Amino acid sequence: MKIAIASDHGGFTLKQTLIEHIKSLGHTIVDLGTDSTSSVDYPDFAHKLANEIQTKSCDLGVLICGTGIGMEMTANRHGGVRAANCTNTTQAKLTREHNNANVLCLGARIVGEVLAIDVVNVFLTTQFEGGRHEKRVEKIDNP
Ligand code: RB5
Repeated sequence: MKIAIASDHGGFTLKQTLIEHIKSLGHTIVDLGTDSTSSVDYPDFAHKLANEIQTKSCDLGVLICGTGIGMEMTANRHGGVRAANCTNTTQAKLTREHNNANVLCLGARIVGEVLAIDVVNVFLTTQFEGGRHEKRVEKIDNP
């Protein structure tokens, strides 16, 4: 798959680790920044990544900030983007199966590196179940 990834300064170090991990799984990475631990504004990076998902330029996205919350809030302003902030593997599994989440948000100050890798592994390997969840997911974009 083609995976977009972006972070703010708070998520930069974890982003670099996850880039190497995701590449080692055989996926193509599109790194949308940031490029250092210098302070930046998380919405700039969340919007950039959400555009990639909205236009279907990438299959799935990973966004990292301090808590994962700001990235999630921003990405979810884009139609067709379903961003889920996950702090454990159960959330990662269920949000793929039930919500067809296409962006995983992580809080680098909340989850450790090993847990973040486990969460990414589950998110990238779990499929949407469809069925009864299909019409519910469609309703997300139709308030
Ligand atoms: C940056 O200090 C911090 O606010 C950001 O990384 C994130 O946690 C926002 O939700």
